[in-house]
Amino acid sequence: MSTVELTDVKTLRKRARQHVEQGAVTEGYNADREQILRLLNESLATEWVCALRYKRHYFMASGIKASVAAEEFLEHATQELEHADKLAERIVQLGGEPDLNPDNLSKHSHAQYVEGKNLEEMVLEDLVAERIAIDSYREIIQYIGESDPTTRRIFEEILAQEEEHADDMADLLKGL
Ligand SMILES: [Fe+2]
Ligand SMILES: [Fe+2]
Repeated sequence: MSTVELTDVKTLRKRARQHVEQGAVTEGYNADREQILRLLNESLATEWVCALRYKRHYFMASGIKASVAAEEFLEHATQELEHADKLAERIVQLGGEPDLNPDNLSKHSHAQYVEGKNLEEMVLEDLVAERIAIDSYREIIQYIGESDPTTRRIFEEILAQEEEHADDMADLLKGL
């Protein structure tokens, strides 16, 4: 049996009517909201920096006729932006504001924007960036624990896709 104490319906209903202006954030939300918002915004910056780096690599690889790599870069760029949107949506649900100020993106991002001089460098830098994202998201998931299941699930879904991205880049690198 779990040690969680269930709240009676009357109290649940009464509590839900208080602070309705906070939307999805209820009294039972027991995560450190400011800290979660900070982590979400840092991850949002990471996703945007990764999307921009993949876009750059896509156009440069197209120029040197490396079509297999170019297609992967483009697909990843699109998926990083989908991740960014999920994070931004959650930030707003939690009563925060997504920081998309371009001046802040590279400052807050965990992964770096590296252009790379040739195809091999591009793929290597993308692999490194994915590995940074994987480690940082795994830690965030552990930090959240049971305190905010929805945010944790979002990070878990993104993490699974970053692992696929890393795998794709590792495969590409082997073929070069
Ligand atoms: Fe991503
Ligand atoms: Fe990724």
